[in-house]
Amino acid sequence: MNWWKRLEGRVKLREPLKSHSTFRIGGSADFFIEPKDLEELRFILGYAKKSRTPFFVIGSGSNVLISEDGLKGIVIRLSAAYFRQISLKRADFVETGSGVALNRIILFAKIHSLSGVEFLSGIPGTIGGALAMNAGVRQRNIGDLVENVTIMDYNGKVKRLTRKYLRFGYRNSNLSRYIILSAVLRLSKDREACIEKRIREYLLSRKESQDLKAKSLGCIFKNPQGLSAGRLIDLCGLKDKRIGGAYISGKHANFILNNGKATAGDVLKLMRLIQERVNRKFKIMLEPEIKIWP
Ligand code: EPU
Repeated sequence: MNWWKRLEGRVKLREPLKSHSTFRIGGSADFFIEPKDLEELRFILGYAKKSRTPFFVIGSGSNVLISEDGLKGIVIRLSAAYFRQISLKRADFVETGSGVALNRIILFAKIHSLSGVEFLSGIPGTIGGALAMNAGVRQRNIGDLVENVTIMDYNGKVKRLTRKYLRFGYRNSNLSRYIILSAVLRLSKDREACIEKRIREYLLSRKESQDLKAKSLGCIFKNPQGLSAGRLIDLCGLKDKRIGGAYISGKHANFILNNGKATAGDVLKLMRLIQERVNRKFKIMLEPEIKIWP
């Protein structure tokens, strides 16, 4: 019997990944699996290890550039109901499964008069992905709010990591070598109207400076210390520069957009061109913020 037949969660073979990426780019995955619960996740990891099959964990696909050649192996998405639970724990702690979308957490917090996550407004993605890369805006990152994180290691063992074992850096963390299952965030009480106002302000400022509706992966490069990658790219005169179907946003130069026909190759070429130009002008080598698969 085929190994995946015993899973009750959704299994798709040769699944086109472009429909699981906010960039709408990418070939097919041999397996695309949404495990039903922890047992099924452990079973998949066990199979991957035994058969030496590579696996990838995807959230909402808002930070990965996936090759046209697709992915040989298993793509796991923790989107079953088990991984999308959210609840209040004590007065100002929210426990959230890793598959919960950031905007759902913001809404949940707001209706419970809890503040702290408003700065994530408008960032596409799930909390699992956001924690792994310590998503945030200039002044604030999701890691600042974390009380503890429950993970599964690649051997299937579940552990709860408290703050003292967690390391959050600029767009990275020590969680990327685990599978994030859930997290407890520490928020603080505030009036719902004040929270709502801050959400609106964050959304508005993002709308003014970024192309939120276009197919993109958000910021492509990390900001060099104390500088804005977008500003450096802009100063090289690269806004609207196009290669194939990929072009640099005219609104924010650290965004590459897909006109619907872009390939991962077009994006990589554009990224290299940006790195060369910025390096030539400012002697700074920009480092990608996005992940490139495989
Ligand atoms: N700027 C330009 N030209 C541009 C873009 C920006 O001159 O094309 C200037 C702006 O006018 C501003 C400065 O550069 O004076 C900083 O720009 P912005 O406020 O947009 O911030 P950023 O440093 O470019 C960071 C995060 C964004 C986040 C914003 C908002 C990174 C790499 N980027 O961008 O995050 O939305 O702050 O706080 O950390 C992401 O992570 O995907 C992302 C988009």
